[in-house]
Amino acid sequence: MKSIENYDFRGKRAIIRVDFNVPLDDKFEVTDPTRIRAAIPTIKRVLAGGGSVILMSHLGRPKKNNDDKYSLRHIVPAIEELLGQKILFAGDSMGDRAAEMARDLKAGEVMLLENLRFYAEEEGKPRDLSEDATDEQKAEAKKAIKASQKEFVKRLASYADVYINDAFGTAHRAHASTALIADYFHNDKMFGYVMEGELNAIDGVLRNPQRPLLAILGGSKVSSKITIIEALMEKVDSIIIGGGMTYTFMAAQGGRVGSSICEPDQFPTALAILEKAKAKGIKILFAQDSLIADAFSENANTKEAPSNDIPDGWQGLDIGAEAKRSFREHILGCKTILWNGPVGVFEMDKFASGTKAVAEAIVEATAKGAYSLIGGGDSVAAINKFGMADKVSYVSTGGGALLEYMEGKELPGVAAIKK
Ligand code: 3PG
Ligand code: MG
Repeated sequence: MKSIENYDFRGKRAIIRVDFNVPLDDKFEVTDPTRIRAAIPTIKRVLAGGGSVILMSHLGRPKKNNDDKYSLRHIVPAIEELLGQKILFAGDSMGDRAAEMARDLKAGEVMLLENLRFYAEEEGKPRDLSEDATDEQKAEAKKAIKASQKEFVKRLASYADVYINDAFGTAHRAHASTALIADYFHNDKMFGYVMEGELNAIDGVLRNPQRPLLAILGGSKVSSKITIIEALMEKVDSIIIGGGMTYTFMAAQGGRVGSSICEPDQFPTALAILEKAKAKGIKILFAQDSLIADAFSENANTKEAPSNDIPDGWQGLDIGAEAKRSFREHILGCKTILWNGPVGVFEMDKFASGTKAVAEAIVEATAKGAYSLIGGGDSVAAINKFGMADKVSYVSTGGGALLEYMEGKELPGVAAIKK
């Protein structure tokens, strides 16, 4: 495999798939530039080596071309600021202008293509199929998009001499720009530094961790975290389960959870997880108490209650004081810590203190020599909100990709470079 570190970029145009799917506010300003900042070293490496750069990314999930809300033009100022130089914006990814701009690109220059998902070909899934389409029509549409996808990939590939995949956050998607395009660059494809760093960090944690190894899993739904919980049970010594999932586990064991988030159809799954953990000798910790509220609102009345004895009309929105203490104590005893998902509704200040306490305990453990890896949009947003990102060992740019990789799945974006 080629490496970005050794490759000779002199006079070469490198097309770099980045994941600049970043959050924007209502003024279209980037609220968390983590993913852009992460990609800067890869871009600079190509430029310093004498090459030029064509950046390509998706933003959000647009369903049609030229939907300005999803235009990458909004993030041009953020890229320029972090990169420290002006970039060219192509305004499209397929048009003549994009092709001309790529052709005329000079060493040291950087251009950005428009949101790849403006074209259905990026994902390779038919759009505009009517609700009542027959199976035959669906098959036709699928065939048509696969055919036009080939042209799409070919055109993207024609812009460059080298392909670099640095979009770890999108590596779990088998899309045109993340996987298929690699076939056009047999001898000139490689990972960027983000990809290399992410894979090394996660491999380090899962293959040869310092023990005890703890996973802290938050989030609202058991149904969306079940595969990762099961996969991690094969690796970790203990798991802290926090967030809305708590109440499904409490209710499954006969607890009262009021109007807390709860998935009754997941009760058997929850009980099976507890059984399995017991059989394997893995400790699972829950918040024994919660901060409960009489409404899902910053203005709600709040009080603390046992997580399995929440009155009607009240819902658990954060962990309680006792849980903060016991989680901290447990975290401080661990040598490797993985954290995915907040333990409360941290977006509202009133319910952020549990997630903050967890973050503080991880920072404290890290200072004492533990290795800590934080991943997933919400936990990364939380650690940034608390200003603690530089006090943990590694902050991943991946959400779904990180979880799938930890589950042991092969990521299409990784496989395409390796094969
Ligand atoms: C993400 O933020 O999850 C990645 O950028 C991938 O986006 P997607 O989930 O819309 O494919
Ligand atoms: Mg996603």
